[in-house]
Amino acid sequence: MSIDPKAFRQALGNYPTGVTVVTTVDADGTPRGLTANSFTSVSLDPALILVCLGKTTASHPVFMQAERFAVNILADDQREVSALFASKSPDKFAQAAWRTGATGAPLIDGSVAWFDCSVHQRVDAGDHTLLIGQVQDMGQRTARPLGYCQGAYVGFQLQQAAQEALARQALTAALIETPQGVLLKPVAGGFDLPTAVDVASLLGELKRQGVQASVDFLFAVFDTPQGARIVYRGRASAAAELAGLRGIPVAALPTLNLPDGALQAMLTRYAQERAQDAFGIYIGNQDAGEVRPLAAA
Ligand SMILES: Cc1cc2nc3c(=O)[nH]c(=O)nc-3n(C[C@H](O)[C@H](O)[C@H](O)COP(=O)(O)O)c2cc1C
Repeated sequence: MSIDPKAFRQALGNYPTGVTVVTTVDADGTPRGLTANSFTSVSLDPALILVCLGKTTASHPVFMQAERFAVNILADDQREVSALFASKSPDKFAQAAWRTGATGAPLIDGSVAWFDCSVHQRVDAGDHTLLIGQVQDMGQRTARPLGYCQGAYVGFQLQQAAQEALARQALTAALIETPQGVLLKPVAGGFDLPTAVDVASLLGELKRQGVQASVDFLFAVFDTPQGARIVYRGRASAAAELAGLRGIPVAALPTLNLPDGALQAMLTRYAQERAQDAFGIYIGNQDAGEVRPLAAA
């Protein structure tokens, strides 16, 4: 069987990981680094870890020469640091707060944990090199780590706001994306989200109407005069016009001009965040609230 690279990448994305920034210094002492989620623990005694570095990255030749490097596990408020070190910016370290660790490798301020390593072994593997490090020094602090799954940042404490909302007799709605777009229910004067008393009823109702959907992540929790609303985002393979729902292309969501301003704002945010594959959670009421990164409780 030949493995399609795009499908392979997508399938791998189903394995949730944290996000790290791997750092070193080049021969001139210039700090270098990149974002990597291929971090793995290897051995407890001796203390070994590894990361897989793509051979086409600009940092690869530097890590091939380096004798020391550090792995910084990012905290849930460090999405921008992740984006910075995943970029091709020539001066990543000018835009980040960092200090020099015991081995000389840069340590990123605010990381939830860091491992300062000497190179134990480099293993050539396909289009990557496995960089195995022996931990010489390490540190950690109490904070939640940033997560990454299916091409988007995720958090590990999504549930608190949803649980509180449930205690306030919430209704559950979902932004379900299909190849045709996000499924909306035509109602007088605009659209509404598919809504039910809980996730199971919502999915059951959609299934009865011929839509096999799943919900992935929390998208918004807010209060309305009619009670709390919990909104998830999810997916379905096809939009069924039969189901009385319409698949609205994501790019068209900001232009719907719905009379329900809170719903319009939510759909606009969905389109913006989908474009960046970086979703947050809105917590507040119909009129005012804040979008928090996924992990913020
Ligand atoms: C969440 C995330 C995880 C990544 N994981 C890796 C990885 O494990 N190995 C890798 O070589 N690149 C990984 N990348 C891509 C690099 O960060 C990206 O190619 C970066 O631009 C390389 O920087 P450089 O060319 O300055 O070395 C990842 C990017 C993101 C956003």
